[in-house]
Amino acid sequence: MIRQRRLALLPLLLALTACGPGRTAAPASSVVPPFLETPVAAHPASSADTLALGKRIYDVNCAHCHGEAGDGNGFGAPHLSPAPRDFTTVDFKFRTTASGHLPTDEDLYRVVSRGLNGTGMPPWQYLLTDAERWAVVDYVKTFQPRFAEEPAATPVTLPDAPAGTRDLKRGAAVYATLECAKCHGPDGRGIGQSSLTLVDGRGRHVNARDFTQPGTFRTGWTEREIVRTIYTGNNGVAMPAYDGIVSKAEEYDLAAYIMSLAGHGPGNQLRRSARGMDGLGEPARVIALREHAWKYEPSEIRIKAGEVVRIDLSTTDNGLGAGHGFAIDGYDQQVFINGAMVGSPQSVTFRINEPGRYKFYCSTQCSVSELHPHMKGTLIVE
Ligand code: HEC
Ligand code: HEC
Repeated sequence: MIRQRRLALLPLLLALTACGPGRTAAPASSVVPPFLETPVAAHPASSADTLALGKRIYDVNCAHCHGEAGDGNGFGAPHLSPAPRDFTTVDFKFRTTASGHLPTDEDLYRVVSRGLNGTGMPPWQYLLTDAERWAVVDYVKTFQPRFAEEPAATPVTLPDAPAGTRDLKRGAAVYATLECAKCHGPDGRGIGQSSLTLVDGRGRHVNARDFTQPGTFRTGWTEREIVRTIYTGNNGVAMPAYDGIVSKAEEYDLAAYIMSLAGHGPGNQLRRSARGMDGLGEPARVIALREHAWKYEPSEIRIKAGEVVRIDLSTTDNGLGAGHGFAIDGYDQQVFINGAMVGSPQSVTFRINEPGRYKFYCSTQCSVSELHPHMKGTLIVE
């Protein structure tokens, strides 16, 4: 079902991937910029034409997750955790506005442009022009009448970063005083005494962020984004706002303390995202492999036995949030890629001496279930 609907989108997606005016070419090896640093193009006046364009873009690119009626019930929704946003509510999480308020137009544009790390929400800046992203933002706002009825929300003023070094001990003390551990856990791994009670607007369980996993910080893993989250909270889930409760130096110490929690234990950002065979030198052949609509392009690769090969894997979406990968059956311990993301391709270098037909597959998450039955291919070693 999913496969067929996705394949039907293929020609249009292909057309959209071409670079054109207002489209940012995916940088070779950088991740998308943090939320606050995402450039915002001038907003063309909203009109019947922009709304019609926004609806066309939405129906093709967004409805399969967010639902045709914007209610978060697209056919892909049951597979996604966190679930796609229900635009008919006011539960927008990632904003520059105070708790309980609607996001600004710029906030919506930034989320649509950069996507949300660690979730299925893709970065559209690589696929849609500036004007197309603004049009779809205008259209998304029509699902919630408060956008038209209320004056535009204004951003909160975030404290500037104080000069000098951060005091991690004081950050830890603020973490204790404000009881962040109730939800995020004493060690920051996202398991605290309130964890079982955390739900979203529909009663679905939500995890508090695991601070040891920088890649899952939705808006980017920077001091400033953490301070913004502390100021704005996340509407619709239990992440409260702590606007100006402690001094600005303490807020930044708290942010620095949270960032210091990454790097301990397994499953953190130090996890190997790709492994190739060491000491092989320059590749004799470089193969561009692309994930598109949850399939590999090409799905058949031919190489010569004994030849040093490099695979460059790029993706056009982030799968269920963790990206896409590559591994070769029988060589999966020595050669693999994990978590290649839009705008952040990954490479792996290897050599296979034994001629034969090898299966390659997505080691990140895709081929393990029926969900992505096409994330596999054949490597022919001649
Ligand atoms: C593959 C599924 C998927 C597609 C396609 C998708 N989204 Fe999303 N989107 C999500 C998920 C999942 C979330 C919620 C993430 C979270 O709660 O952390 C989300 C959240 C959002 C949000 C809410 C941000 C906030 O602050 O709460 C907006 C706005 C949004 N998407 C717009 C769009 C638009 C516009 C499109 C099409 C151009 C689109 N999405 C396509 C999965 C998707
Ligand atoms: C009542 C529970 C609760 C408390 C208390 C709480 N949080 Fe959270 N926090 C959450 C939840 C739930 C999320 C995940 C929100 C989502 O769905 O994306 C979260 C997310 C976050 C994020 C990630 C934002 C992002 O962009 O990914 C940060 C940073 C954060 N919290 C910091 C804090 C700090 C600092 C404190 C203490 C001052 C705190 N939280 C207290 C529940 C809580």
